[in-house]
Amino acid sequence: MKTEIIEINSGNIDISKIRYASQVLKDGGLVAFPTETVYGLGANALNKEAVERIFIAKGRPSDNPLIVHVADKRSVEKLVSHIPNKASILMDKFWPGPLTLVMDKLPIIPEVITAGLDTVAIRVPSHPIALALIREAELPVAAPSANVSGKPSPTDSRHVINDLNGKVDVIIDGGFSDIGVESTVVDMVLDPPMLLRPGGITVEQLEDVLGQIQIDPTLVKKNLDDIIIPRSPGMKYKHYAPKADVIIVEGDPEKIAVRINEMVKEYEGKDIKVGILATDETVHLYPESLAVSLGSRLSPGTIAANLFKALRDFDKTDVQMIFAESVDSSGIGLAIMNRMKKAAGYNIIKI
Ligand code: TXA
Ligand code: MG
Repeated sequence: MKTEIIEINSGNIDISKIRYASQVLKDGGLVAFPTETVYGLGANALNKEAVERIFIAKGRPSDNPLIVHVADKRSVEKLVSHIPNKASILMDKFWPGPLTLVMDKLPIIPEVITAGLDTVAIRVPSHPIALALIREAELPVAAPSANVSGKPSPTDSRHVINDLNGKVDVIIDGGFSDIGVESTVVDMVLDPPMLLRPGGITVEQLEDVLGQIQIDPTLVKKNLDDIIIPRSPGMKYKHYAPKADVIIVEGDPEKIAVRINEMVKEYEGKDIKVGILATDETVHLYPESLAVSLGSRLSPGTIAANLFKALRDFDKTDVQMIFAESVDSSGIGLAIMNRMKKAAGYNIIKI
């Protein structure tokens, strides 16, 4: 199929282009669009056949449910049986923004979206193009990240074109996604609410508002041996994986660099091409041709914004083994380390 690529300037939105793309959604088509976290692949959430096409385009397992995107808090009332008080508080505080809330669904939500669960995950994105599209379509929009299943989520339209050109109706090119990691997913059916996926809104921010939250035990899994069945079905799949293998080295940054340099010599001795994911503070400690900085450790938001692009950039090289420095896991660092560990298949060396 032919994919139309439509460029829209998020600072000066051409409403006629938004209208065109929203009509594609109304007609049951697939539209990839930018959000503040990552690009999403959207379909009319109330149209079962349209939603099924998302799973086909992405090669996504059918037991992994999708997030429904709406324009405002009021639109949630038509989709869930009950809005818990704590969910209402979080909506007022963090919407529009990178926070997804899981609540009990109404029958209007097709089963294909929720993979048969009784709950539905909902968020209001803050990206002006995403909001304009959802408002103009006057529909709830089901949208997983717009990557082929298993690959790093797309933070730029070029990543989407690379993965989905020829498989979807429209790709909106709206520049980079600022946050660069997906939304935080919180299960509001439980009390205290449970963090299912760390993301753009931090645990610290949630606790400031709610007091206490629980953390899904799968998120504290340290290595491959701790197999626990996750409540968020998507968390069990191989994710964010570049073609190369990834090893994370965890510990004091200076010591990490010493250890990575030892391993670089060892692997290069075996004729294996290596790459290094470093930070501004450490990048000078490595051979210049091998290391990429994700940003400063003092600016973890920058590291989050650059992570998926860096993983995808390695796919364009002949690198077979990537050594990645761990970062502090407070704040947005929890989401960064969660995605890195998945990219590494929990291959972690602690020093
Ligand atoms: O930032 C984001 O959330 C992006 C943008 C496009 O909005 N979307 C995104 O969607 O990351 P996706 O499909 O890649 O991830 C959705 C996550 C999965 O881990 C899925 O298992 C979980 O949300 N999820 C969806 N519905 C759920 C439910 N009813 N209960 C528990 N987890 C759910
Ligand atoms: Mg995804």
